[in-house]
Amino acid sequence: MSDHAHPTSELQEISRRLQVAMEIQWILRDESGLSPVAALKRAAESRVVPAAAPRRPSPAARVEAASSPSSAAPPPAATVIQPWQNDPARFASLDELHETYQACLRCELGKTRKNFVFGVGSPKARVMFIGEAPGRDEDLQGEPFVGAAGQLLTKILGAVDFKREDVYIANILKCRPPGNRDPQPEEIAACEPILRRQIELIQPLVLCTLGAFAARTMLGVNSGISRLRGRVHDYRGIPLVPTYHPAALLRNASWKRPTWEDVQLLRREYDRLAKTES
Ligand code: URA
Repeated sequence: MSDHAHPTSELQEISRRLQVAMEIQWILRDESGLSPVAALKRAAESRVVPAAAPRRPSPAARVEAASSPSSAAPPPAATVIQPWQNDPARFASLDELHETYQACLRCELGKTRKNFVFGVGSPKARVMFIGEAPGRDEDLQGEPFVGAAGQLLTKILGAVDFKREDVYIANILKCRPPGNRDPQPEEIAACEPILRRQIELIQPLVLCTLGAFAARTMLGVNSGISRLRGRVHDYRGIPLVPTYHPAALLRNASWKRPTWEDVQLLRREYDRLAKTES
């Protein structure tokens, strides 16, 4: 190593820490300067866990949809999931799993999505983040968390020294619910085995759920996120840290601090487990 190598790497380390400190400051910054309309508009650009009651189609609309010629028509043969494909557990790699299900029609969302949003990141990730479902940007681009909420998520990861490309990011649902409505039980039932297999194949050391919906689904409970966050839970033997959804932070800046505490807890849990692993 040359004489200059040490000071240079120190400078790089100082600059990295400065960058992280700036990101933390950004995350914790009170954005109440944003007018409520601007904040809502910003949140609407990404998928937001709706504050209002879920928008379900009326029974009349459902009957109409069921009897309409388009829903009665069989889907194109190439997109039908064959019976043997119904068990995600049989796929031995993420690529195989992705390839098989990208044409998935296990639920109605397969008819309205633009892209099947499988997941993104390292197949060897030690930390995995799980959101609710793709929003408009994710549906268009085929990648989870790419809108405003996704950009905030990337900053949050950086603040605890995780890089987006080193972790794995997926959603409970792989297809966008029209109009960002709440996922329905039959959609969750159809999609959840794919996520379960992703987790089995990746074998992360620790999971982090984003928002109430993901936490409730993974933990099989009905509690609110403020009750679930702040501690480590268990998902099939894997520690799980629930926190707020980044889209929620764009609407309500007072949730930034608890989120910051949660991701620090996640980092500590990861560090502890990574140490015992090596
Ligand atoms: N919100 C989610 O829950 N998932 C995404 O991929 C994007 C926004």
